[in-house]
Amino acid sequence: MPAGIKTVELLLGVTGSIAAYKALELVRLCRRDNWGVTVVMTRSACRLVGVESFRTLTGRPVARELFPRERIFSSPVEHIDLATRPDIIVIAPATANIIGKLAHGIADDLLATLLLAIPEEKVRQGRVLFAPAMNENMWRNRIVQNNVARLTELGFRFILPAEGELACGVTGTGRMAEPATIFAHCQSALANIPRLSGVSALVTTGRTEEPIDPVRIITNRSSGLLGVEIARHFAIAGARTRLIAGAVSVPLPADAIRVRTTREMADAVARFLPETDILVMCAAVADYQPAETAGDKYHAKQLTLKLKRTPDILTLVARRKNPPLLVGFSLDNSLNRAKDKLRHKHLDLIVANPVETAGSEMIKPTLLFRSGRTQRLPELTKPDFARELVKVVAQLFNNNSEQPSLRKKTKKG
Ligand SMILES: Cc1cc2nc3c(=O)[nH]c(=O)nc-3n(C[C@H](O)[C@H](O)[C@H](O)COP(=O)(O)O)c2cc1C
Repeated sequence: MPAGIKTVELLLGVTGSIAAYKALELVRLCRRDNWGVTVVMTRSACRLVGVESFRTLTGRPVARELFPRERIFSSPVEHIDLATRPDIIVIAPATANIIGKLAHGIADDLLATLLLAIPEEKVRQGRVLFAPAMNENMWRNRIVQNNVARLTELGFRFILPAEGELACGVTGTGRMAEPATIFAHCQSALANIPRLSGVSALVTTGRTEEPIDPVRIITNRSSGLLGVEIARHFAIAGARTRLIAGAVSVPLPADAIRVRTTREMADAVARFLPETDILVMCAAVADYQPAETAGDKYHAKQLTLKLKRTPDILTLVARRKNPPLLVGFSLDNSLNRAKDKLRHKHLDLIVANPVETAGSEMIKPTLLFRSGRTQRLPELTKPDFARELVKVVAQLFNNNSEQPSLRKKTKKG
């Protein structure tokens, strides 16, 4: 593989699906982070998307032949080097054909051969990922599903296709995951986040709104970005993830559960609690609500509002007999107040953030654990912190899950 200062070496296998054009965007995302990318294309892929586009974006030759007329890499046995040198291998899009060939040990072209030559350890580490793309009937075909199950059992990871408009003109499941999602899965695989398959995670995000009258509200500046990112990383780690969202300033996944007030958020948390293993309360809930809400808009020149405390969701949760692993947030410049909250609300972990974090792109958190351990993190973007947090929580959960009170409440999936 050509030399150069690169942070991560990715091998991208592109196979014969219409979605092959989306692989160009994946390359762009990787190159933006200075990853070195080598592309291997199948013959069918070359019919559907231009080799030159990949060559230009990666700045490298594109490997296509098992017996190339001219060697494009310096090594004598190219397919072995291609399989062993990269940090991570992604097949995007992955056809039914390449999945079937690998599941049955067929090595009849460059990509299929190098997939068989990947060291087992890399597969076990979850660093070989497939992003399937195909017509819905193909994806649901039991032969394809059996092949996927067989490879999953061996440690290959699948970034499941989404529902949407397919190249064949119908709407259904089989559309390749978006390049940004595939890139996030790669980052997670490289971060060695422990797998959370069969674990159920519930994340709250955004800000709650307490009505003063039919048009006015009490709220705060939380954007909801951090909770959305935390939920995304739990899902990437394999957890069955639910997101409960108040008002937010960022796009939400389609299956997010929407609430407005703190009371509604408390009710939604209570509804899903019996089947939750990990609860991350990232939402900025209003601490106070008007003691009375006017039925009509206030017009008075001066207004004195009487406020009362909103329901304390964490205390309600901690009182339960079999609480999940509990993670809370404290937006406060005092670490002592965060420590008090950790103790009084029986949390397993609290993330203490300075008040400037609200609505900002960055976060400078300190993690305080129930055990008394303190971990200061450097200033991070919210997506980067979300990934780190999910890693810490996954380790905590896996260590604690020997305790009867923290055994998984959901079946392994
Ligand atoms: C226009 C076109 C689009 C195709 N799209 C897909 C697809 O999305 N998924 C798939 O599994 N096969 C698709 N196929 C079929 C594959 O290209 C075919 O099975 C081929 O043998 C795959 O070879 P490969 O896996 O070596 O790339 C498509 C074929 C054509 C002609």
